[in-house]
Order: sequence, then structure tokens, then C-alpha cells
Amino acid sequence: MNINAMRARQSRPSVARVYSYVLGGRDNYGVDKNVGDYFMSDLAGSEQLAITNREAVLRAVHGMATDGITQFIDMGCGLPATENVHDVARRVHPDAKVVYVDNDPFVVAHGRALLAVDDDVDAIEGDVGKTAWIREHPAVERIIDFDRPVGLLFAVTLSFLEDDEDPAGVVKFWTDQVPSGSQVYISHFRTGGTREAKATERKILEAFGRGRWRTDTEIRAFYGDLEILDPGIVPCAQWRPQPGEGEHTLSDWEQMIVAGLARKP
Ligand SMILES: C[S@@+](CC[C@H](N)C(=O)[O-])C[C@H]1O[C@@H](n2cnc3c(N)ncnc32)[C@H](O)[C@@H]1O
Repeated sequence: MNINAMRARQSRPSVARVYSYVLGGRDNYGVDKNVGDYFMSDLAGSEQLAITNREAVLRAVHGMATDGITQFIDMGCGLPATENVHDVARRVHPDAKVVYVDNDPFVVAHGRALLAVDDDVDAIEGDVGKTAWIREHPAVERIIDFDRPVGLLFAVTLSFLEDDEDPAGVVKFWTDQVPSGSQVYISHFRTGGTREAKATERKILEAFGRGRWRTDTEIRAFYGDLEILDPGIVPCAQWRPQPGEGEHTLSDWEQMIVAGLARKP
């Protein structure tokens, strides 16, 4: 990478690096820390958005693997974390296959180094909106068998697509590609009513310069005709929580990120 590209990257916060910083990761720049610190101090508690989202993603992967899914495409995968999709899936199916996709080159560079552990796991740079391009990517063609159920993950990613990027069309494209029995996990920022909720929404949109927080109705529409599995579309903290968790009264921030898993009939 040339020096100008490097400077440009370090001067703007990246969703992936801020998210990773809030989750305790170390791969970030000062500009990412500033945004992350703002969330954790000025909007103390808002880090629960990231934490409850990440925990629910991993429970969803475990759920899909337990339902017999052995191959996954993680759209907008983020930086490698302590536990990643292939780590969780391989605890259930040691031969599970995963393609990680992200449009942030920093994520993909780290992903290749840390996630591409063997020939059945790879990380590719791609924009989730460019569905056909991703579908035809050699790594996707090589790793994913589209005659067998696939686990599709859109964890927070659709929140960063504008309406004119047709997030519903993106989900529909992929559900048309995969066979019956495939599952689709979506988590999404839910637009909120309280002052803190509005401030958090504004700050996230301002910091990253794109995306849309959506209403329950808008998020529900992404699933189209898919069969939504228990417990429905609920705050991440209440999505199949571990025993003893998710029973407290949720904070405003915990209410601002919802998730649901659906099955293609
Ligand atoms: C908040 S992180 C979530 C990471 C992971 N999915 C999770 O939920 O733990 C959002 C990720 O989506 C990626 N992203 C945002 N818009 C994208 C797009 N249009 N195409 C691909 N990746 C995108 C960002 O680079 C970032 O890594």
C-alpha cells in the first residue's frame, strides 16, 4: 500500500476497527480509539451494542451447526476476534467450511493472516452489495457447495447499506442461491426513541458516514418468505441467551440491536 493510502486509512475511523476496539481488540489506530472511547465514556453502556451482538452471532453459528449446517458465508465479517465463525462451527463439525467477506481491506489482510487456517476457510475482499461478484468469486466457488445447506450471516452488515443499495435484494439473492434447509442470520441496528438511543444512532452514522438504522417492520421485511425460527426477531441479548442471561430489564442500548435466524423452507 502506498503512503497516501496508508494515511487516508489512518485518518478515518473504520467500522471494523472501532467495533474490534470496543470488543477489546488491538488492531486499531488513534482515530478508531477516539470514536470507541466516546462510546464507552460519553455514552457509557453503549458498548453493549457491540458485545451483545457479537455474543449472539456466535450463538447463532452454534445453533446453525447444531442443525447440521457445515458451511457458512460471513458477510461483513469484521476483524478476527477471540472466537470466530469457523472456531465455533468446527467445535460441532471439525470439517466446517467458511468464507469470510468484508469490504475493508484492513479486515481482509488480517483475516487472511488469522482466519484462513486451511483450504476450507478463506477471507475475501468484497462489497456485500455486489452479490453476483461474490457468488462467482473463486474462493466461494471452491469452498461452498450450493447443493447443500449454507449458513448465511449478515451480522450488523445490512445496517451499513443505504436503502438504494437494496439490502432486501441482497438477502433475496443469496436465499435464491442456496437450497432448502439453509439458514440466514441477520442482526441489525434498530432505530430508537430515547435521547441516548438517538445520540448513539447519530454518532454511529456520523462516524462512519453511511448506513441506516431501521424499524422492526423494515428489519422483518429482509426475511421475505423465510421461516423465522425461535425466538423470533428480538434484541441480541435475548436471542437464545445462555441460561441465566438475558432475563434482566434491557438497557436502551441493548434494545437497539436485534437479531433473528430464519430457515429456507
Ligand atoms: C460492526 S462490524 C460487524 C462484524 C461481524 N459481522 C459481527 O457482527 O461481529 C461490521 C462489518 O461490516 C463490514 N461492512 C460494512 N459494509 C459492508 C459492505 N457493504 N460490504 C462488506 N462489508 C461491509 C465492515 O467493514 C465491518 O467489518
